[in-house]
Amino acid sequence: MTFAANTINVQSARLPYSTQHDYRFKDKHILSVSQFSVDDLAYVFDVAEEFRMIVRRLGVTDVLKGHVLATLFYEPSTRTSSSFIAAIQRLGGTVIPINEVRYSSVSKGESLPDTIRTLESYADVIVLRHPEKGSAALAARYARKPIINAGDGIGEHPTQALLDLFTILQERGGIDGMTVTMLGDLKYGRTVHSLARLLSMFRVKVNYISPEELRMPPELVAQLAERGIEQYEDTALEHVLPDTDVLYVTRIQQERFSDPKEYDRLKASYVITPEVMSRAKKECTLMHPLPRVGEISMDVDDDPRAAYFRQMEYGLYIRMAILALVLGKA
Ligand code: CP
Repeated sequence: MTFAANTINVQSARLPYSTQHDYRFKDKHILSVSQFSVDDLAYVFDVAEEFRMIVRRLGVTDVLKGHVLATLFYEPSTRTSSSFIAAIQRLGGTVIPINEVRYSSVSKGESLPDTIRTLESYADVIVLRHPEKGSAALAARYARKPIINAGDGIGEHPTQALLDLFTILQERGGIDGMTVTMLGDLKYGRTVHSLARLLSMFRVKVNYISPEELRMPPELVAQLAERGIEQYEDTALEHVLPDTDVLYVTRIQQERFSDPKEYDRLKASYVITPEVMSRAKKECTLMHPLPRVGEISMDVDDDPRAAYFRQMEYGLYIRMAILALVLGKA
């Protein structure tokens, strides 16, 4: 997988990964994007690309036959939970789905460490979504099996960021030189936190467009500045839209607001319509981690630049790759 159209393919000097025994992710937790190097990303994306071709040609494979995944979701999810379930099933494995902890012993007061210890008695890998930042790292301290962070409060959502980067590569052919504009709730949106960290490994410019109250956390902006990333903050999309290569839209995260009136005041801050897109570049890529709740009009869906449904599909291949890699079977 090449990261920039005009730079070398990071793999070109080596045998293809598929002919090597490379166990760098075997038995590893996936907690944060910070644990990935550029070479790691190339490796994950190559495996994902192979699985994309296998799914297109065959639908399923038996790479993880006999393996069991447990999904443990303390917060609602459609895409992350169902794509991990589809991923293990398309790899020939099976799943213990706990997508609503109300119906598990969590509702009797069972702690996160005990719930993890229970599930790892039955499963080989656990995917965890939890409302508290740091919960995936806490679970990993008690776990003997790999924990995959599927979103920890306002912390991180590393597999989402991997699929976001994979989407940019698939749609645009490279990352270096891109201007990426993040729009919406940059304070509470964990997907933009993870994606900004990943993007900082490349030669990009990042614009942050949000209401004043929902700005990107200053510590994250400082981290990217230390890495020499050009960044720009504003409340007005029109100031950066004409120069934007990738427009990454997020919803205002209602569930993180303590004051419902504040959410009501901010929820319709930005709406992408065909009229807005008429002022964007012809080849601008429009992304959204979804779900959307009004910030991209459905009239935009047929615009070829709207990549958010393809983005969801790329998530399947990334999650197949992550499962196979942590189980040492890619
Ligand atoms: N993008 C994302 O995490 O979607 P879900 O909340 O539906 O899993």
